Amino acid sequence: MAEAMFMKKIILVTGGAGFIGSNLIERLVKDENNKIISLDNYFTGKKENHIEGAEYREGHTKDIEKLVPETPDLVYHLGEYSRVEKSFDDVALVWDLNKIGTFSVLEFCRKRNVKIIYAGSSTKFGDGGLGRDQSPYA
Ligand SMILES: NC(=O)c1ccc[n+]([C@@H]2O[C@H](COP(=O)([O-])OP(=O)(O)OC[C@H]3O[C@@H](n4cnc5c(N)ncnc54)[C@H](O)[C@@H]3O)[C@@H](O)[C@H]2O)c1
Repeated sequence: MAEAMFMKKIILVTGGAGFIGSNLIERLVKDENNKIISLDNYFTGKKENHIEGAEYREGHTKDIEKLVPETPDLVYHLGEYSRVEKSFDDVALVWDLNKIGTFSVLEFCRKRNVKIIYAGSSTKFGDGGLGRDQSPYA
């Protein structure tokens, strides 16, 4: 009875089917007090990266409000376009996935007062700080 009333901690991982996200989820599911939800659009993510015990939702972070009706306890935001060189060919896509997507994730967290952990790239710190303007990715 007491067990049925126990509320798990909801952790949302954007980009949960990607490289860092899947390794993070592998670690997070080990704590049975956690309920893990991944939101990924499978742009570079793979279903083979799915970890048993996590719940996977397919979609763009810009639709986070619709796709995640729950209020998580914590959001790890890793769901972004992640290729430096290729980003020169994909400027509009980088804007859509990263700028618009990240704005929606931030707004989602702000409105619901949810803590967010964001793993942006260190690329922008390259070249003594000049890196910030050297690629759409940065
Ligand atoms: N791998 C590294 O060495 C490294 C280092 C520093 C920072 N980062 C940053 O960490 C984050 C994750 O990197 P990664 O190496 O795991 O990349 P990855 O490409 O393996 O994972 C990114 C995941 O996000 C998904 N995705 C992309 N845009 C999305 C969107 N708008 N909505 C939903 N899902 C989306 C992709 O399908 C993929 O599964 C990126 O922001 C990257 O810039 C990575």
